[in-house]
Amino acid sequence: MTEWWRDAVVYQVYPRSFADADGDGIGDLPGITSRLPALAELGVDAVWLSPFYPSPQNDAGYDVSDYRDVEPIFGTLADADDLIGTAHDLGLRVVVDIVPNHTSSEHRWFQAALAAAPGSHERSRYMFRDGGGEDGSTPPNNWRSVFGGSAWTRVTEPDGTPGQWYLHLFDSTQPDVNWDNPDVHEEFAETLRFWLDRGADGFRIDVAHSMIKEADLPDWEDDDSPMGGTAEITEDRRPPMWDQEGVHEIYREWRRIVDSYDGDRMLVAEAWVTPYERLARYTRPDELHQAFNFDHCVAPWRAADQRGVVTTSVEGSAAVGAPATWVLSNHDIVRHASRFGFPPASRGLGGIGPDDPQPDAVLGLRRARAATAFMLSLPGSAYLYQGEELGLPEHTTLPGDVRQDPAWHRTGGEDTGRDGCRVPVPWEADAPSFGFGPSAGTWLPQPPVYGELARDRQQGVEGSTLELYKAALRLRREHSLGHGDTLDWVEQWCGPQSLGLRRGDVLVLVNFDGEPADLPAGHRVLLSSGPLTDGRLPSDTTVWLAPA
Ligand code: GLC
Repeated sequence: MTEWWRDAVVYQVYPRSFADADGDGIGDLPGITSRLPALAELGVDAVWLSPFYPSPQNDAGYDVSDYRDVEPIFGTLADADDLIGTAHDLGLRVVVDIVPNHTSSEHRWFQAALAAAPGSHERSRYMFRDGGGEDGSTPPNNWRSVFGGSAWTRVTEPDGTPGQWYLHLFDSTQPDVNWDNPDVHEEFAETLRFWLDRGADGFRIDVAHSMIKEADLPDWEDDDSPMGGTAEITEDRRPPMWDQEGVHEIYREWRRIVDSYDGDRMLVAEAWVTPYERLARYTRPDELHQAFNFDHCVAPWRAADQRGVVTTSVEGSAAVGAPATWVLSNHDIVRHASRFGFPPASRGLGGIGPDDPQPDAVLGLRRARAATAFMLSLPGSAYLYQGEELGLPEHTTLPGDVRQDPAWHRTGGEDTGRDGCRVPVPWEADAPSFGFGPSAGTWLPQPPVYGELARDRQQGVEGSTLELYKAALRLRREHSLGHGDTLDWVEQWCGPQSLGLRRGDVLVLVNFDGEPADLPAGHRVLLSSGPLTDGRLPSDTTVWLAPA
């Protein structure tokens, strides 16, 4: 059996926003199933589905109240089976999301914990602690929630008195579970088996670096970087809630489970861990197969930065025998067509609101296409986020009253949040909700430009972003561009404003910000992320060349 995941292109579907079959304005599983042929035609290898499990939807499904069923908004278990079966018939693998750091506060375990006494077995499945001060009224430590505010909430005990506190690194409706409790191991092992038995080809592991906390939960200095301080992590200075040694034992346990199944199932970590060597440890041979490479995602659009991060990633992953991964957009960060629309080089990952500086849409899309063409030429596995194949920008002018991200609400709007990248995608320009569903309503409003970028407007149109992605995915497969774990930079093309990389018989050239450059003689253009200027490679453009 080939290890398909080593160079797979995985397409992320965010179920709320992909396709709505029943017309309630929220996407659903039958909607996704009906649109799978478009993904097979696009040329991806697999689909990763963000959570579709029963959930009060306080964090858009990352607050799971039952790991082994389907949220009625999204459909039924039969719909999930149908989706997996249809995908397999189309030659697409299916990766599902697992959220092991926290449950929803509506999960049966948390409800039982609230009803039980301090010190009980029920409470020991979560991180309950007594408060500080004489009356226990101060939180057990100073940790902050990633979404803003304290990471602790105090409960009212069953007898009506103010009681213990529970830890939630995210929203207060997402209590962290206690991985020192064997029940937790058993519960998640059973959940893995449940979805593996139903045909899932793998799991994307939510906040995979968070499940184990340093003993005694010491205070940690505050830090407002996106995932609660990962930017500050070094060998000597690691926050007590992230990237603790104990998580690796959990992944060895999980690896044994997936390996006991046939069909080459895989595990990929969402772990905001730096430096790269620490991330690579999650992908040692007896642990996970892949980890998302956020260093690449945050790297500025400049030749030196891109070369540096690509080199570190490929070498760092090769050192543990794992493939590198590449991600430019997902449901938590500003879409790269907007992120790159800020001269000189790009912008951070945090949301954009109507009062913020707005991206240059033309520049952003031009660079996004060049960045994607570069990414898809690299060895390893690439992740695409729904709508990026249409060149969709972030919705940067969403008014506060429609925003739903708990990060927006918990910070009183200080953190713009992630709604701007979660807007329902357009399929048909002239249909209600641009073909997202049969009704005009969508759970977040779509910006007018989504009509111009609808899939039917790009299908078969030469030069469209959709056709660029299709061609890139076809050529990537034909030329095995995802294979290998070495980099062959073409030094005469590597300067402050350009990069050249040989990938087998393909020569990849990127002009980041320079004057139009002559292409080397004796080559023909296989792929170009944008028009050439009199046969020369203009700025913010990537070409793939083959010997003439
Ligand atoms: C991950 C998810 C994000 C979610 C958070 C808490 O970062 O990608 O959407 O809010 O975990 O589950």
